[in-house]
Amino acid sequence: MQRGVLILDFGSQVSQLIARRLRELGYYSELLPYNTPIEKIREKNPLGIILSGGPSSVYDEDAPKAEVRDLIQIAPLLGICYGMQLLAHVYGGMVEQSDKREYGLNTVEWRTPFKGVPSKQKVWMSHGDVVKVPPPGFEVLAFSESNHPAAMRAPRILAVQFHPEVSHTEAGIEILRHFCKELCHAEPNWSAEDVLDHTFRKIRAQVPDGERILCALSGGVDSTVVGKLLTQALGPERVVCVFVDNGLLRKNEYQEVIEIYRTLGLNVDGVNARKLFLGRLKGVIDPEEKRKIIGHTFIDVFKDEIKKHKGITFLAQGTLYPDVIESISPRGASVTIKSHHNVGGLPKDLKLKLIEPLRELFKDEVRVLGEELKIPKAMLWRHPFPGPGLAIRVIGEASEEALDVLREVDAIFVEELRRADLYVHIWQAFVVLLPVRTVGVQGDGRTYERTVALRAVTSTDGMTADWFAFPTEFLRQVSNRITNEVRSVNRVVYDITSKPPGTIEWE
Ligand code: XMP
Repeated sequence: MQRGVLILDFGSQVSQLIARRLRELGYYSELLPYNTPIEKIREKNPLGIILSGGPSSVYDEDAPKAEVRDLIQIAPLLGICYGMQLLAHVYGGMVEQSDKREYGLNTVEWRTPFKGVPSKQKVWMSHGDVVKVPPPGFEVLAFSESNHPAAMRAPRILAVQFHPEVSHTEAGIEILRHFCKELCHAEPNWSAEDVLDHTFRKIRAQVPDGERILCALSGGVDSTVVGKLLTQALGPERVVCVFVDNGLLRKNEYQEVIEIYRTLGLNVDGVNARKLFLGRLKGVIDPEEKRKIIGHTFIDVFKDEIKKHKGITFLAQGTLYPDVIESISPRGASVTIKSHHNVGGLPKDLKLKLIEPLRELFKDEVRVLGEELKIPKAMLWRHPFPGPGLAIRVIGEASEEALDVLREVDAIFVEELRRADLYVHIWQAFVVLLPVRTVGVQGDGRTYERTVALRAVTSTDGMTADWFAFPTEFLRQVSNRITNEVRSVNRVVYDITSKPPGTIEWE
């Protein structure tokens, strides 16, 4: 691994953004828990160390601490929010509970701002304690609206009371750049080419000669990049890809996707398991029950594949860095991660070793890699699609007939989104088929047919989301097309619920 900038995580909600920003600047960076043993940090030989924000006060009895005086021997330090208070505390400054808590936007005034930073800088703050008196030898560089030190420095140390990593902080990235360049003397070393090279070397080191990998493809970005990476690193003979037609995919999806896989040179086995999946889903109404059945059925299909292809000892998974970070965070594994999101990846049942080539990457980096690997743009920017597929978008029993209706309606919606150039502005858009029939009038006749709900949301990570405000004309066009072209649907509604309180999927 490249030498990079280490971030010690003291539990802030936005710690992983620091790593993202540094990587955007071209510096490799890793996030570790605040209590990582000092020898491990020394071994990594970082170019710089960042102490992140966190919810504690340095005076709390169980306040998270780090051996700051040892860390500074290893590399220059940047303290952010709690990190700054910790530095002040350790070096003999005065940290105090402020009479005025500073949350949200604030303006700090710099005496001599860094390059690219305005002298009156809008920043995002989130803290109770403040540094009242800086430690001896520290120079205060900026003050907050309530006149507390907002930035200070000493040899090999920089500290800021606000969060330079969040987008609400104006020119926050310049502060991170200043730290990397001027204090750490780091050279940018994290380009798509470096990442690719590094990932190939890691894959080759992990998989012994003669052993083979099973790589389940879902049609999504992550699994496609995993499949292509592994195939390019080890050759198609050693990477058996499986794409399952479970009868729960969108209209024409199976054919279109498998063709892209073949063009990409993947050794892909297309498995028609429609009957198996739909048979097991017969009469099942409960969403979690559907998920369980689908998860188990995938495993059964994969077991058959393992029998079919000799020498498979590894299972590939598209785990991303945010999942890894969440699981080591001082906040504990986040409650927002849902185990059911890992349909198809239950390695325990398959008794295979795991290989996770995207473990160190953020989603946007996966897309950059995908481009480097010549994966078509349309594939890289597809909306996320849940493992259980359309089964959780038919409310009630996912019968073949209901799935067919949903496929038709969904295809119209997506086609119109693309035509109106809206697809790329939306995180996820789909149709839900409701178990509700309503009365309508078409021609001269009375109808009593199905209702569908359109759902389109914006989001950055799927954890929170907002419904998309379509132009009225667009909704009119979609609704007209659906009711004209799909006989068994006579009513279209639009879901205007954000997440929370709603989830993105209805089930
Ligand atoms: P929710 O509905 O929880 O969805 O707001 C958040 C994101 O996760 C996707 N999702 C799933 N993905 N298996 C998956 O692989 C599932 O069971 C599942 N349920 C929801 C959802 O489409 C959205 O992107």
